[in-house]
Amino acid sequence: MQSVVSYPNRGPYGDSSYRGNCSGNIIKDLIKHFYPGNTKPKRFIEVFSGGGTGKDVANELNLSNSLHLDLNNGWDALTDEIPSGADFIFSHPPYWDIISYEKERNSYSENDLSNQMPYEEFIKKLNIVNEKIYHSLIVGGRHATLIGDVRKQGTYYSIIKDMNWYGDLESHIIKIQYNCMSDNKVYSNNNFIPIKHEHLLIFKKNKIWVFNMKVTVTSQENIINATNITWRDLVQATIQFLKNKATVDEIYNILIKSKKAQNNKYVREKIRQTLNNNSNFKKVENKWILCISQ
Ligand SMILES: C[S@@+](CC[C@H](N)C(=O)[O-])C[C@H]1O[C@@H](n2cnc3c(N)ncnc32)[C@H](O)[C@@H]1O
Repeated sequence: MQSVVSYPNRGPYGDSSYRGNCSGNIIKDLIKHFYPGNTKPKRFIEVFSGGGTGKDVANELNLSNSLHLDLNNGWDALTDEIPSGADFIFSHPPYWDIISYEKERNSYSENDLSNQMPYEEFIKKLNIVNEKIYHSLIVGGRHATLIGDVRKQGTYYSIIKDMNWYGDLESHIIKIQYNCMSDNKVYSNNNFIPIKHEHLLIFKKNKIWVFNMKVTVTSQENIINATNITWRDLVQATIQFLKNKATVDEIYNILIKSKKAQNNKYVREKIRQTLNNNSNFKKVENKWILCISQ
């Protein structure tokens, strides 16, 4: 296997009409990579098994004790235990609410990760499942998880960036995506880069007691409080804020409140010097404007 994979043909595995299914070849290649020759996983578990893709792969590879778990066969990732003893777990969760599996199953479950819910709630639930998966592995075992990014109403959601990571990242593989629902959609605004890939992350459990966990924190900061910012960038932002026409006094009245000004006795002089020394500022009559040549 290499760090970019592409399966234009999903292979004869599982129900090809099951929405959001994956290629069985990816599961097969993973198992063959980690268990070369005649070796086999002690136990292979597939979480979110959907249309039976992993089961067909397990049958082809003669893995007699594999387990394939999904709401559609009565197993709930949020409330049920992950069976123990696995050294290889493949999971392919819903990509938030992009495909409704309630429709696919024809029955509602409040724990369906594809239900419509706020993104933060989806990430929280996915974290619960991923942590359970990690703890259930035997030492030396791996969790391979396949998941895509989502763009919704102009906002880009990177699920792999926002979810917690449990264990030691062993590989990050990019999988080229084929047959996306969005392929045939006509967008009124096509000024964006379409998503044509998914992520396959492989985490390894190397220790019994201690585990690495990576958590992303999103915060909103104001540049007025930044210290790792130049006077040039502060002045540029201030001129933009003042609709691209500002006197030194107007810039001063804003930047005197900045964190950087706290450590500088000569703020007015610093602003003047910044305006004079940078070619991207230009004086027109008594006001300064941004002058960015193209
Ligand atoms: C992306 S699909 C998996 C597709 C599968 N890899 C295949 O090739 O057919 C995600 C699956 O997650 C299942 N699912 C959603 N929430 C679940 C939950 N709480 N417990 C178990 N399965 C769940 C859905 O029923 C759906 O089959």
